[in-house]
Amino acid sequence: MPELAYVNGIFVELSEARIPIEDRGYQFADGVYEVIGTYNGRPFAMEEHLVRLQYSLDELAIRLNVSDYGIGRIVSAGIRRANFEETLVYIQITRGVAPRRHEFPSADVKPSIVMTFKSLERLPQEIYDKGVKLISFPDLRWGRCDIKSTALLANVLAKQQATKQGAFEALLVNTEGFITEGSSTSVFWVKQEKLFVTPSGKNILPSITRKILMEIAGELGIETCQFACRLEDLLKADEVILAGTTTEAVSVTEIDEKVIGTGSPGVMVKRIRRAFLNRC
Ligand code: PDD
Repeated sequence: MPELAYVNGIFVELSEARIPIEDRGYQFADGVYEVIGTYNGRPFAMEEHLVRLQYSLDELAIRLNVSDYGIGRIVSAGIRRANFEETLVYIQITRGVAPRRHEFPSADVKPSIVMTFKSLERLPQEIYDKGVKLISFPDLRWGRCDIKSTALLANVLAKQQATKQGAFEALLVNTEGFITEGSSTSVFWVKQEKLFVTPSGKNILPSITRKILMEIAGELGIETCQFACRLEDLLKADEVILAGTTTEAVSVTEIDEKVIGTGSPGVMVKRIRRAFLNRC
């Protein structure tokens, strides 16, 4: 089955899809994105992803109404057309194509709407059974990480360093020494059976998986708490967990070569992942 793309109203094979050089996404990273996965062929948490997409667009004053344009309907149509067992949907909306000047182009420039539909291969079971290693890395990102912007160079550099060191992910640490999140994941930790996350705000992405896992924890009667945590305190946690659309919930067994908890996936990650999969 060929991979599929959608470009401004037209479905084409991904290898045939083109965007102009003067697209502001290409020249300025002046755009936003979403990543949605399917379970049993159905897009998971689509409504939440579309709400966040509208938020990102509004914060950058990119004039597009997600529901008027029918983004949800196009996503569903693309999943059907692509016909994979499970699909990874990427949506990117940029401010559009205009001569390269930093300020916004005139109001008649229309946003560019692009999607790709690829076969979703989930992480190997071994990752969930054994857990993963992280490195810490300086959080070099900008002050609006709550916007799901395509400007991901700082995330790319962090992930590349992790890959180079044989780690699964880079855990970002801000200039005050507090952890924020992974380069493409949210982070949770467990202390005395309580589940902690970094406080919501402009320095982290409002992750959909994080929101759902917090709801699940509430349903399971697990106490949750938003708390600013230093890297050295995180190392003393009973468990550390990474979460995200393609990651689900993965146990972290080592950070910067220091063992976390028992060094193997704990009770909490197993419990919340099981409950999460039951919901998908
Ligand atoms: N990344 N934090 C960051 C910085 C992210 O880029 C992501 C997702 C998450 C998890 O968010 P969610 O649960 O909504 O997927 C947290 C996507 C998957 C990516 O860039 O590919």
